[in-house]
Amino acid sequence: MKPGYQQIYARYRDNIISGVLKPGDRVPSIRVLAEELKVARKTVETAYAVLIGEGYLTSHGAQGTRVNRDLVLNAAPRPAPPVADDPLPSLTGIRDSLGYLELGIPSLDSFPYKKWLLLAGKAVRAMRPEDMTLPPVMGYYPLRQAIAAYLTVSRGVACTAEQVVITGGYRSNLLWILQALAATRDKVVFEDPGYFFGQKLLKRTVSRLHYAPVDENGINVDYLLQHHADARVVITTPSHQSPLAVTLSLPRKQQLLDWASQNDAWIVEDDYDGEFHYTRKVLPSLKSIDTHDRVIYVGTFSKTVMPSLRIGYMVLPVTTLNAFRESGEIMAGGQPLLAQKILTAFLAEGHFYKHLRKMRTLYQQRRTLVQTTLQALYPDIFTLEQTDGGMHIVAYLRSGSCDVELAALWQQHQLNVSPLSSWYSQHNRRFGLIMGYTNVRSEAEARALLSKPRAATLALLGKV
Ligand SMILES: Cc1ncc(COP(=O)(O)O)c(C=O)c1O
Repeated sequence: MKPGYQQIYARYRDNIISGVLKPGDRVPSIRVLAEELKVARKTVETAYAVLIGEGYLTSHGAQGTRVNRDLVLNAAPRPAPPVADDPLPSLTGIRDSLGYLELGIPSLDSFPYKKWLLLAGKAVRAMRPEDMTLPPVMGYYPLRQAIAAYLTVSRGVACTAEQVVITGGYRSNLLWILQALAATRDKVVFEDPGYFFGQKLLKRTVSRLHYAPVDENGINVDYLLQHHADARVVITTPSHQSPLAVTLSLPRKQQLLDWASQNDAWIVEDDYDGEFHYTRKVLPSLKSIDTHDRVIYVGTFSKTVMPSLRIGYMVLPVTTLNAFRESGEIMAGGQPLLAQKILTAFLAEGHFYKHLRKMRTLYQQRRTLVQTTLQALYPDIFTLEQTDGGMHIVAYLRSGSCDVELAALWQQHQLNVSPLSSWYSQHNRRFGLIMGYTNVRSEAEARALLSKPRAATLALLGKV
């Protein structure tokens, strides 16, 4: 409903009394406000006339209309927003809404906010009219270059900027890949257990979706070849399997690559948190040994920078570039340019590398801290398996299968853990809790958080 003159009058009066509009502030001209509110000029003119009559506004002819400088208000001014000494936001509020032990969220207290804000400000100020057109479909070229340089040097994935495309993250990666490389009736194989959201998305979009089980050496390639050698696309997490965090063994990697090259199949290597490994047993990524160019390497800045950025990337086989460009023009349409520019500066100026190095050390400490506390508080309940890295822990139930009830119980204490069994589709389920540890800041905090559901956990599992 269009506002009448009383509503316009009341909005101005309230904002002046509460201090949102200050003495001397200029208000829009009658014409501009009437256009903005889509009302007749007369309506605004009447509201302004009353406000001027009551002394809230003063008219200055061609200089416009302002809030009366001589206005003396009796109402208490609106309290100024608190000014933080430190620009770092408090974690408490964030965690109250998010919960603790949330999966997949990088450490929020250690991000170089000041640096990021500085780069963001610079990027905004450097905006030019040409930046207002549509962003490039395959991504901002300097960012593609920066990612290619990073992957080549740090992850052993030799690629050119032309092979790198910028995406909106995991879901858009999968949809884009399926659009570009798979026909509607093609068979797609996913890991079991597998990434919760991946599984949900694929169930909705792929008509011939099948699963291959995962064991301590990653996806079972023998099983895959026995049952689904005719698959067109296999989606896997070789570095740290999601969710079991095991690493795909080298012989299996080779077996998988051989099968793909002999069958013209595609392997999607989701290296979502491959940056974080803490043992010496670092195996090469699939893409780095992909001599036949059958692997689409998929990465994200959600774990290394922040999930709200919504920027991911893919390294495409050279022969598929045209197919991706074509479907990208229809499906993707490019990502917001400003965010890509900020990220480019973050990488190009070396802050990304520095941050990663710091996070590797920090996550290793925090992982140990949570593992040790879990072992101390729940020795008869959970067993932990030592894995190379990643950003989460799987606490397997020593006995019983009630992980769904257990997770619900922990969630009542704001511990946002996930039941392992719900990440399975068909193969032998295991039971336990999946938890993130990257935001647990001290031993005291780990103990305080993990002891909250202790009594109820022991009761549920009949240990009291
Ligand atoms: C297995 C897996 N792949 C990919 C991602 C990254 O998703 P996105 O890039 O959409 O944030 C995640 C995030 O939690 C994940 O767990």
